Amino acid sequence: MNFSERLGIFLQRTVWQRRVGSWEHEASPGLERVIEAVVAIASVGSEDRVVDLGCGSGQVALEVAPFAKSVLGVDISGRMVDRMLERARLERMDNVSGRVSALETLSLPQGEASVIVSNYVLHHLSDASKAKVVKLCFNWLEPGGRLVIGDMMFGRGATSSDRQVIAGKIKLLASKGVGGYWRIAKNAIRYLFRVQEKPVSRERWLAMFADAGFEAIDSSPVVAEASVVFGRKPQAGSATGSGG
Ligand SMILES: C[S@@+](CC[C@H](N)C(=O)[O-])C[C@H]1O[C@@H](n2cnc3c(N)ncnc32)[C@H](O)[C@@H]1O
Repeated sequence: MNFSERLGIFLQRTVWQRRVGSWEHEASPGLERVIEAVVAIASVGSEDRVVDLGCGSGQVALEVAPFAKSVLGVDISGRMVDRMLERARLERMDNVSGRVSALETLSLPQGEASVIVSNYVLHHLSDASKAKVVKLCFNWLEPGGRLVIGDMMFGRGATSSDRQVIAGKIKLLASKGVGGYWRIAKNAIRYLFRVQEKPVSRERWLAMFADAGFEAIDSSPVVAEASVVFGRKPQAGSATGSGG
């Protein structure tokens, strides 16, 4: 891992250690819809062993836990994981466990999960790390396992749909007055210099799933900036799997 990747992990951990309370309060109707879509598309059942990558304080993990055999939430922030486990205890969910780790350095046994979900996390990773994590997910899934990723998915303005999403975000923030203008400036810097926000287009996500060997790849736009991408690891013996 090079210096800039290590620095990126340090910065993400520092930022998210401080945002446990604020993230829970910032949840927007748009984000709720993306969480609902991830949960619906994952379609978790009583035999599923679920891993939630970048679980936060359990926004997806605790939604699927009542239906799952087990849920492991992984997050770079120990405070996020603690909060998720506290919420699980309060809800008497004893099938939820947590792991503190950056996704860039996460190691899990092969075939550990039948479902892997991740919501609004992977745009924080470099493009190389996104592709690496998708390939690792292929390896961590059992044959037939599903990967469901919800995230902001748009490029840097090369297509008209990118430009529509960016213009919509600017309009929404501008309608919030001075605070909104400050956030436009902050987001523009992050986005242009790819400091904390590094989204890529839905097409790029579909290509990453295909490269990793997933089949039945599908995507659903949910709100203007966000989509959910689905892929299934081929059953053992199927000709289409790359094996990760
Ligand atoms: C925007 S929040 C999303 C939380 C939750 N998944 C949700 O749907 O609300 C991003 C989460 O990703 C975690 N995160 C950011 N970078 C990460 C990384 N490199 N490895 C693991 N977790 C990371 C943060 O700590 C934070 O909990």
